[in-house]
Amino acid sequence: MLIKTAEFVKSSGKWQECPDATIPEYAFIGRSNVGKSSLINAMMNHKDLAKTSQTPGKTQLINHFLINEEWYLTDLPGYGYARVSKSTRKDFEKLITNYILNRKNLVNLFVLVDVRHTPQKIDLEFMQWCGESGIPFSIVFTKADKLKPGGAQRNVDTYETELLKTWEEAPQMYITSAEKKQGGDEILKYIEQTNQY
Ligand code: GTP
Ligand code: MG
Repeated sequence: MLIKTAEFVKSSGKWQECPDATIPEYAFIGRSNVGKSSLINAMMNHKDLAKTSQTPGKTQLINHFLINEEWYLTDLPGYGYARVSKSTRKDFEKLITNYILNRKNLVNLFVLVDVRHTPQKIDLEFMQWCGESGIPFSIVFTKADKLKPGGAQRNVDTYETELLKTWEEAPQMYITSAEKKQGGDEILKYIEQTNQY
């Protein structure tokens, strides 16, 4: 998909404050610092559309971007950030889960995980919750440039084996690097095929 326009629309602290749910929407979610905002920028060919940081917990609101005046791309706060208070973490979780359960135009959730890590409990539990809640999702592996060629694929295969212990079928998976602008095209291809209402 050719990106003609990518504009920031608004930041929302509640799902009720999000823009009208009139066009298809795709959201990026995952642990703090996994690379959600960076991948959005890489896919949109934009240096700082979404704010990124080396410090986890940068994105604290639901950020909507309007792409090609046709669909929304949404950058969500990270989950599982240990260095905030319990109540702040609970607030984030509530914001995220309410958004996911109530956002009627949400077509797919992209769950980002760092390709260097073995499957983490918090991600597996989140995916389990998506499955139980009937929320469609795909897995996006990030930071592939940090591994040698072949290393990323090996880790993805391990991840898939782990998932297939509890899931009948593995979700769609993408291997990406924001740094090397890799893998975003496949995600955009999927969005192109599904964003027609
Ligand atoms: P929160 O908003 O805090 O939840 O984080 P985030 O998931 O949006 O992560 P962000 O995009 O801010 O990136 C976090 C850090 O990882 C930054 O220092 C990025 O430069 C780095 N990073 C992100 N993607 C990549 C990648 O593909 N390769 C490498 N090498 N570094 C990356
Ligand atoms: Mg972010």
